[in-house]
Amino acid sequence: MMRAVVTGGAGFVGSHLCDRLLAEDWEVVCVDSLLTGTTANLSAAVSSDRFSIHEADVSRGLEVDGPVNWVFHFASLASPRDYLMHPIPTLEVGALGTLHCLRLAEAKGAGLFLASTSEVYGDPKVHPQPETYWGNVNPIGPRSVYDESKRFAEAATMAYRRVHGMPVRITRIFNTYGPRMRHGDGRAVPTFIHQALLGEPMTVHGDGSQTRSLCYVADLIEGIWRAVNTELTSPINLGNTEEISMGELAELIRDLAGSDSSIDYTERPVDDPEMRRPDTTLARDLLEWTPAVPLREGLANTIEWMRASSTEI
Ligand SMILES: NC(=O)c1ccc[n+]([C@@H]2O[C@H](COP(=O)([O-])OP(=O)(O)OC[C@H]3O[C@@H](n4cnc5c(N)ncnc54)[C@H](O)[C@@H]3O)[C@@H](O)[C@H]2O)c1
Repeated sequence: MMRAVVTGGAGFVGSHLCDRLLAEDWEVVCVDSLLTGTTANLSAAVSSDRFSIHEADVSRGLEVDGPVNWVFHFASLASPRDYLMHPIPTLEVGALGTLHCLRLAEAKGAGLFLASTSEVYGDPKVHPQPETYWGNVNPIGPRSVYDESKRFAEAATMAYRRVHGMPVRITRIFNTYGPRMRHGDGRAVPTFIHQALLGEPMTVHGDGSQTRSLCYVADLIEGIWRAVNTELTSPINLGNTEEISMGELAELIRDLAGSDSSIDYTERPVDDPEMRRPDTTLARDLLEWTPAVPLREGLANTIEWMRASSTEI
């Protein structure tokens, strides 16, 4: 039986990954500090006798008994609100946490699967961004704790690959949304939905013309699963190629939620990218992967989940 360690497994993406690995008959050891994640996300997973959860900070070390086939390093502060609030733990989990995962993988003869990010491209000068683009990152701005530690994580992963020849996967994940995002995590989709459900003004940064491409979490997990099962060494983009402006997104969510919230325009955060869209040619060619869930459908599922879940989280 395949056995995985999933760091950050109690978070939004990590918990969906745990569910998928369990559905594929893997054994899963989730390691999470519960800083931004919650065991509520694992309510289905815990019913499996192939699942266990360890509350631990991977920046301090990572020890797991028994055989391991893959270490999935998904622990990170992931939303801008979280990493701006916790800049040092963000650096630590991207840098020290990644090294601990790599050492564990090396000791176990396992592979390392890194959840990297489109943020490695910074505020890109090339559109859409192919994996060969090196990015345009401000190394000292407030967002740099996230961007640079993920760039370090990629560098460390490639170094372990070169030195130890271990299997590695690096997925550069673009904005993903879906059930289990926290109401208050500060990312656009849950923020707009939360505001729309409460009938509060929906706060759009700037004039709302900046665009994003949004991938539904089930599509992302399918891409991750295909990446595990395909021989790959270099990074691969996973994301949706359809762009939507933040202003249009707010309107769409307001309609789908049946809300009469107003839309208010506020100041843009520092280094907020104008546009970001993946070039997913590689994922299409190598993984035969393209996102399948239309935005309206994914948003409707997310709205339904957020309506039913507590606003406390
Ligand atoms: N969701 C996205 O749109 C997106 C986009 C790009 C990359 N990613 C990457 O995917 C991964 C998951 O992101 P998410 O959106 O699910 O975020 P999330 O905040 O929901 O999950 C992150 C999890 O990591 C845990 N964690 C944080 N620091 C830890 C530490 N030191 N030790 C152990 N656990 C720790 C948190 O408690 C949480 O459960 C992250 O690595 C993130 O950088 C996500």
